[in-house]
Amino acid sequence: MKANLDPIQEAKRSAALKAVEHVQDGFIVGLGSGSTAAFAIEALGERVKTGNLHVMGVPTSYQAFLLAIECGIPITTLDEHPTVDLTIDGADQITPELCLIKGMGAAMAREKIVAAASKLNVIIADDKKRVKRLGENSQSVPIEVLPFAISLTKQKIIDAGGKPVLREGKGKLGPTITDNGNAILDSYFGEIVNPAELEVKIKMIPGVVETGFFVGLTDIAYVGTSIGVDKIERLRRK
Ligand code: 5RP
Repeated sequence: MKANLDPIQEAKRSAALKAVEHVQDGFIVGLGSGSTAAFAIEALGERVKTGNLHVMGVPTSYQAFLLAIECGIPITTLDEHPTVDLTIDGADQITPELCLIKGMGAAMAREKIVAAASKLNVIIADDKKRVKRLGENSQSVPIEVLPFAISLTKQKIIDAGGKPVLREGKGKLGPTITDNGNAILDSYFGEIVNPAELEVKIKMIPGVVETGFFVGLTDIAYVGTSIGVDKIERLRRK
């Protein structure tokens, strides 16, 4: 039975249900990370259990992996299936052009790899994630860096106009350690006029593993609101 959810959780769930409608029998599905993507994994698990749906999931994090197991979704890897039919994932900010900031759950490196392997990328979110420009509302860009390079990457991010802060762990002392064994520098750049350009600049810094910029990767976004779900579509890159 469906539990009563607060309006934000309900908006996330409604967006997730729309995205899961794209899943077809035999699909390899990229399983996103975060609280919104979790609704999609649960809904997919329901379809696997109750319907005649055979899919395999490629988790983008340890969180997604454990939830998929719990929901009865068979797991595979990019080594076994380098092409993913569809990935459903959340986001921290979404522009009308479907540029994203991701990574507040520290999973953006694997999320971006799975997105790049996917024929279709569907993003799900509640209305609060919508912005005109990335970086609005004091949103930082998560940047995953090798622990060996924390000081150097910090300085280079400052040189590039950012204000990096080492993300602290929760329930442990010291920094957050990603599923890849790295650290996160949450870096504030103000409102970002050209995210594609800034992404390339930051990726060029030795020691940077990945950034939370997702530019040109998203095909469809479903955004849950108090009155329904908005669909935003982008023409697919060639
Ligand atoms: C994790 C992510 C998440 O998708 C993003 O942080 C959104 O999470 P939530 O749905 O919990 O708000 O990018 O790295």
